[in-house]
Amino acid sequence: MTTPARPHPMSRRTLGTPLTPSATRVMLLGAGELGKEVLIALQRLGVETIAVDRYEHAPGQQVAHHARTIAMSDPAALRALIEAERPLLVVPEIEAIATPELQALEAEGVVRVVPTARAARLTMDREGIRRLAAETLGLPTSPYRFCDSLAELQAAIADPAAGIGYPCIVKPVMSSSGKGQSKVDGPDDVRKAWDYAMAGGRVSHGRVIVEGFIRFDYEITLLTVRSLDPATGAVRTDFCAPIGHVQVHGDYVESWQPHAMSATALARAQAIAKAITDDLGRAADGSADGLGIYGVELFVQGDEVWFSEVSPRPHDTGLVTLATQWQSEFELHARAILGLPVDVALKSAGASAVVYGGVEAQGVVFDGVAEALAVPGADLRLFGKPESFTKRRMGVALVHDADVERARERAKLAASRVRPRAAG
Ligand SMILES: Nc1ncnc2c1ncn2[C@@H]1O[C@H](COP(=O)(O)OP(=O)(O)O)[C@@H](O)[C@H]1O
Ligand SMILES: [Mg+2]
Repeated sequence: MTTPARPHPMSRRTLGTPLTPSATRVMLLGAGELGKEVLIALQRLGVETIAVDRYEHAPGQQVAHHARTIAMSDPAALRALIEAERPLLVVPEIEAIATPELQALEAEGVVRVVPTARAARLTMDREGIRRLAAETLGLPTSPYRFCDSLAELQAAIADPAAGIGYPCIVKPVMSSSGKGQSKVDGPDDVRKAWDYAMAGGRVSHGRVIVEGFIRFDYEITLLTVRSLDPATGAVRTDFCAPIGHVQVHGDYVESWQPHAMSATALARAQAIAKAITDDLGRAADGSADGLGIYGVELFVQGDEVWFSEVSPRPHDTGLVTLATQWQSEFELHARAILGLPVDVALKSAGASAVVYGGVEAQGVVFDGVAEALAVPGADLRLFGKPESFTKRRMGVALVHDADVERARERAKLAASRVRPRAAG
């Protein structure tokens, strides 16, 4: 590792005192359960925090110095807020942000975006990141096509040159957590998948990606951290132990760490993660300064590894690291973005299991918390979301245990014991 020609802008920065003129101020764009944990990690370092979300009393707003509620997809509202607050860093927690405006603000020198505004822009929808990974970087991915109509979708699946065929997966270009996503087993399902994608996309954006189905043995999230090496001041890359997870209808329901992998598969996974995070860490001006954690999603079959997608921020399946690492993915993110050193070492094996709302109600009550916490090695996060939906993630059970399989069983048991219900 060589000493950089110029010092990194985040190297050897002082930290200030919140709510005084010396404060180090950081703004989170999105204040859900992942943002909440990043905010808590920042609070522990005495950082002054501003939590932004589109609704009031979002989880992260409850633990930040300042809460702001705006439509983050509205460029004018986003610019006005950032110009008024002038934070040192802007940290996107979600994808649905006016990222071109962030790019403009970064280019004007108004603010630093984590890891870079370009990364936020490229990962805002499935197209930017897929084309970068497959076409620019040449990483292995599922075969895919982008389609703007039902007819195009039918043609893409039928086209032997595209290599897609059945089964395949149709996803809105703009969506997350499996919304609008479906598996298509034959020609009769294509129309239904198209209609579902149109109804489930984040903004009415008549575009889908159709991907050939990868028959993976397992899928992992490889948390990858770009931080400043305290010895050299240069950006370095570290990998957390692989996280295994189960997705139901495209939404994570349980995760565990570590997931056993062959040495070849792990080396390939790390090489893919390095390639994509190096690229996303590069700002528009070419500087490779982007810092922070990335969740690189990969499919594995034997020794073969495919890139699926990447979040330039903490990943939901990485909630397990609250139980398994000395520094959780949220602490790693907080440290890395401030230019501080990180330690990705595993503390214990462990697992996480999601607690869903199960009901549609405001201000729910949680029964069974004591019973859940009585499970050996169990911990719990209840996110404090003001409104519950049947499929909304309201909390997560976390278990550490030397044995991963036992940790998974116990995490599922603990999660099942927490029962949200309407109050009264
Ligand atoms: N091409 C594919 N082949 C097999 N399974 C897939 C494919 N694409 C997605 N999946 C499954 O669906 C899940 C969600 O898809 P993903 O692209 O990660 O969407 P999201 O952005 O909503 O997380 C994946 O974690 C995987 O389990
Ligand atoms: Mg995903």
